[in-house]
Amino acid sequence: MKVLVTGGAGYIGSHVVDLLIERGYEVVVIDNLYTGHVEAVHPQATFVQGDLLDHARVKDVFEAHAFEGILHFASHTLVGESWEKPWLYLRDNVVAASNLLEEAANHGVKRFILSSTANLFDDPENIPIVAEERIVPGSPYGESKYMIERQLYWMERIYGMASCCLRYFNASGAHPDGHIGEDHTPEYHLIPIILQVALGQREKLTIYGDDYKTPDGTCIRDYIHVMDLADAHILALEALADGKSRKYNLGNGKGYSVREVVDMARQITGQTITTEVGARRPGDPDNLIADSTRIMQELGWQPEFNTLPHIIETAWNWHKNNPHGYAGRK
Ligand SMILES: NC(=O)c1ccc[n+]([C@@H]2O[C@H](COP(=O)([O-])OP(=O)(O)OC[C@H]3O[C@@H](n4cnc5c(N)ncnc54)[C@H](O)[C@@H]3O)[C@@H](O)[C@H]2O)c1
Repeated sequence: MKVLVTGGAGYIGSHVVDLLIERGYEVVVIDNLYTGHVEAVHPQATFVQGDLLDHARVKDVFEAHAFEGILHFASHTLVGESWEKPWLYLRDNVVAASNLLEEAANHGVKRFILSSTANLFDDPENIPIVAEERIVPGSPYGESKYMIERQLYWMERIYGMASCCLRYFNASGAHPDGHIGEDHTPEYHLIPIILQVALGQREKLTIYGDDYKTPDGTCIRDYIHVMDLADAHILALEALADGKSRKYNLGNGKGYSVREVVDMARQITGQTITTEVGARRPGDPDNLIADSTRIMQELGWQPEFNTLPHIIETAWNWHKNNPHGYAGRK
């Protein structure tokens, strides 16, 4: 089965491409390398450097290959940036997806997987957050994902394209053999930042507020290993053969506070890891934990790397062996 992976040179996309190839899929990656790295793309995947905003380029890819499915990772991804540069999100993320969907529909593609987000649930009524939770996007970033989810609703009704929206919580960790991992510049995610402190690349970690309504006052988040995410994508791709669209929340169902993550990273790295407490960031909820029961029951998804030590150990293995990410390997 031949699939198109947009953003397959990025953090999550590259791990999914790796697993797709391991499981026998033929993979074409399109990525503009805005934040991605060509070195992260599996050598057996066909790599096309291209921007989804370039509609003619997208059309060319569909003319050259017959895809049975699409996994769409390419996106601007930063909640904070989306408040400062909303049009990267409300326009570019949405136009990129529209170009892709138009060509997918024109070429008869019937399976589409979207990287959606927990940022759809800014004001959850219940924790853990179930798939049926009401949607209140927490930023222009979350809104852009919701707008794409709505496009998918119409794609199904008009073209019979089945989709699966996977609303990830905090993706983390790295491939267990350490050949690919997370490499963002600048880095905004908690675990890699903590590990940069452990490596002496940063002086300290700033904790954004310690007066949240949690036992130690720091925010609680649900961390999900990137390989477990990858496995969920492939299960979803296979399930869409029945033509039915789906939406799933993806997390481990257990939250860890910032201080708990730092303490675990101290144990695993053996480093001190200095922290300071700074001001709260606007819009950070106290507690975000996923209820992933639906994907477990419907698709039999079972996370394998579902403990914080597993997540931090694999991330540390990647960061300590690649302290300058992919750049250090060229
Ligand atoms: N990292 C997380 O914790 C998290 C959580 C929820 C959802 N997501 C979603 O998962 C997806 C992947 O996230 P990531 O952390 O791997 O991000 P990433 O930045 O590492 O990967 C995104 C990839 O898309 C490419 N790209 C961006 N815009 C493009 C365009 N217009 N045309 C072609 N390529 C383009 C980038 O170069 C990059 O390789 C995103 O859609 C993100 O919104 C991530």
